[in-house]
Amino acid sequence: MLYLWRRSQVPIKQPIKISRIDNLIIFLICILISIISSYKSLLGSPLNISDIFSWFFTFTEALISSGILILVSKKENPTISSRQIILLITLLLAVQALKLALPSRISPLSMIIPPALIISQGMGSITALAWVSIASLIWPDPAVTISNNLFFILLVCASVVSLLGGRIRSRAQLLQLSIFVPIGSFLSQWILIGKDKISFIDKQDIFFSNGDIFSDSLLLALVMLFTLLFMPIFESIFGLLTKARLLELADKEKPLIRRLSFEAPGTFEHTLLICGLAEEATRMIGGDIDLIKTGALYHDVGKLHAPNWFIENQDGSKNPHDEIDDPIKSAEVLQAHVDEGLKYARKNRLPKLIANFIPEHQGTLKMGYFFQKAKEKNLDIDENHFRYKGPIPQSKETAILMLADGCEAALRAMNIDASDKEALRTISKIIYSRQNDGQLDDSNLSKGEIFLIKRAFLNVWKRIRHRRIQYPTSKNNTFS
Ligand SMILES: [Fe+2]
Ligand SMILES: [Fe+2]
Repeated sequence: MLYLWRRSQVPIKQPIKISRIDNLIIFLICILISIISSYKSLLGSPLNISDIFSWFFTFTEALISSGILILVSKKENPTISSRQIILLITLLLAVQALKLALPSRISPLSMIIPPALIISQGMGSITALAWVSIASLIWPDPAVTISNNLFFILLVCASVVSLLGGRIRSRAQLLQLSIFVPIGSFLSQWILIGKDKISFIDKQDIFFSNGDIFSDSLLLALVMLFTLLFMPIFESIFGLLTKARLLELADKEKPLIRRLSFEAPGTFEHTLLICGLAEEATRMIGGDIDLIKTGALYHDVGKLHAPNWFIENQDGSKNPHDEIDDPIKSAEVLQAHVDEGLKYARKNRLPKLIANFIPEHQGTLKMGYFFQKAKEKNLDIDENHFRYKGPIPQSKETAILMLADGCEAALRAMNIDASDKEALRTISKIIYSRQNDGQLDDSNLSKGEIFLIKRAFLNVWKRIRHRRIQYPTSKNNTFS
């Protein structure tokens, strides 16, 4: 029981350290939010002790709420960057400021629902739900207190956007959400608030007339559509990795992937097989499938710098490693596929979570073949010169990719008649050697998950074996 409790307290991914200056900026924004939320209590004259008490209460409430929001976001997504936390609380600050600047002209629906869409897409549903609750809770001006019915509609619509936003996998679905939520809010306001509060387009100020349910819903639809339009900009400025962005990056028509298929066809084939292995294993342990599929696709792009130095791209005629006959140089070429891969990632503006797959899939693994060669040549070298520079996998997904990378060649080379037992033995041997070498220490993969990963790899191997079996065909059999 104690072990299970400790295990449940372990973060899935290693938390990112936030610099002091970023911490200071975040703290200042939180203070600003608290000031905006509370300063009105101090405006009354004469000022009495209950005003000061009420100011202190509201100030502390806003400060603690902002802190809780940051904690929730870190808990849901331990690798959240300081830029993303700044975005999260800046959106809260913007809503607080808007509430003050346009107290009676703008609907709370248009202020709270669109940011919930950005947050749920980029940082997850729970963070978005926490943001919605806090943005609705700290309402600065009692004069614009919203009615119970509107508050209920706001919470339902914002919760739907937060929950669906985190799961939506395409921009088309996002567009549907941005159209149906305003329609839903219009209909529910019509039923709950009243049909008399509707004037359609018989006034000039159609978008800013708080209280008119048609104007409010129209404004909401407009702001939602603008949010969608600016989403790619948010993604690149704040490093948000939305599902839609992940799927776009996984498109095999992307120039970098096209180059890989032309210039390093062997690596491309290896990549596709690894995608299959890693995807199946991630599905088994309940990880992020879209993330690993995209990460796997880019993990070896660095091999583009010298494709024919890697065995999978050699046609068997000549091996440059044999020609130079220098194990140290050969090891440098292998390390270069990680360093160059990171350069390609920067050039192609790959998100950090995807770029992490490039060094972490190799971890600090030993380049055993060249180390052995160096030893045979009696070269005076340190083993560390024949290890990749790392870091070792920091998440379950990058660890799975490392294991898939290790098993791929062995599984491909296995005899077609090999039994499941033999395949499982080969997989277990490779995984055990990585585990023993300390490569999985930071990944937080449990023993049960490693067991499931082995079964998943075995299932994929069975599929590959099935594909390789040739079906008997007769001369006349030209159809299937
Ligand atoms: Fe690699
Ligand atoms: Fe690889």
